[in-house]
Amino acid sequence: MAQLRDKLLAWYDANARALPWRAPPGSSARTDPYRVWLSEVMLQQTTVPHATPYFLAFIARWPRVEDLAAAADAEVMAAWAGLGYYARARNLLACARAVAERHGGEFPGTVEGLSALPGLGPYTAAAVAAIAFDQPANVVDGNVERVMARLYAVETPLPAAKPELKRLAADTVTSYRTGDWAQALMDLGATVCRPKAPLCERCPISAHCAAYATGRPESYPRRSPKAERPRRHGVAYLLTRGDAVALVRRPPKGLLGGMLALPTGEWRSEPWGEAEAKRAAPVRADWRGAGEIEHVFTHFSLKLTVLRAEAEAEDVIWSPRRDLAALPSVFLKAARMGLSGA
Ligand code: ADE
Repeated sequence: MAQLRDKLLAWYDANARALPWRAPPGSSARTDPYRVWLSEVMLQQTTVPHATPYFLAFIARWPRVEDLAAAADAEVMAAWAGLGYYARARNLLACARAVAERHGGEFPGTVEGLSALPGLGPYTAAAVAAIAFDQPANVVDGNVERVMARLYAVETPLPAAKPELKRLAADTVTSYRTGDWAQALMDLGATVCRPKAPLCERCPISAHCAAYATGRPESYPRRSPKAERPRRHGVAYLLTRGDAVALVRRPPKGLLGGMLALPTGEWRSEPWGEAEAKRAAPVRADWRGAGEIEHVFTHFSLKLTVLRAEAEAEDVIWSPRRDLAALPSVFLKAARMGLSGA
């Protein structure tokens, strides 16, 4: 284990990705817990290249946790648009406010203290503790799970293997270079020990890897056969008044909760017919079919029929076209499709 750790840390010293929330490897510079926390929340379910511009925009606009705590909910939700998993943005604000109000703007420095903050789960608590506070916390994301499944050629399929993979990862943690260790495992998983085509020739620890020894490292982690993603069908209504598009705010709970949206019909298992979709429209207008888009969520895929009309409406938020970036991706796609046909 000591050898494996030395090799991977040396690899990290030479190959760490330069990321805007990171201290360079081996650096004693304290990384700002706010930046670490913000990046870790964004990076759940999202890749580094996708999250980075959002991280930079948030930091430019809200440089300290107190600034974020003081922001209006709608501003933060709009800035989050495109990152998905909008419950995370609501939790992010709740957490920033708790840190500002209960802790004088200083993040607690232990896993226990961090875990007591609203919306801060075990992964984020461990990551912030290890990276910002030098705590020997066990930081396990999907990358680390994959690295462990391969190192030890774990035959239990995911997701059942998760507790076992977490224990294996825990055995690699010491109190030496805690944040670098966590990030070395994550970087190895993201850039070398990749899901489909691992680059074992470049791997500093392939000599220790049981999956490499089998000759089929990519067949780990084992997986239970996937249930097929159900398909749902909906309608989105693109209502325009000159340059402005009619938006609504979705109810706070549930999928896309609290986000701006196009008005929609029910999401259900049968396709919508165009005539039926017109009858269900929120206002009477000359609705025209503008096409269909498809969007994949974690638990289902959604086919949206897009209808377009030009008309007046009340109880909507008229938003100029250039502000549509505040929409979640599914509605941005629908709006673009509807507008492009006009
Ligand atoms: N994925 C999530 N957090 C990360 C980090 N700190 N470094 C690299 N990849 C990550």
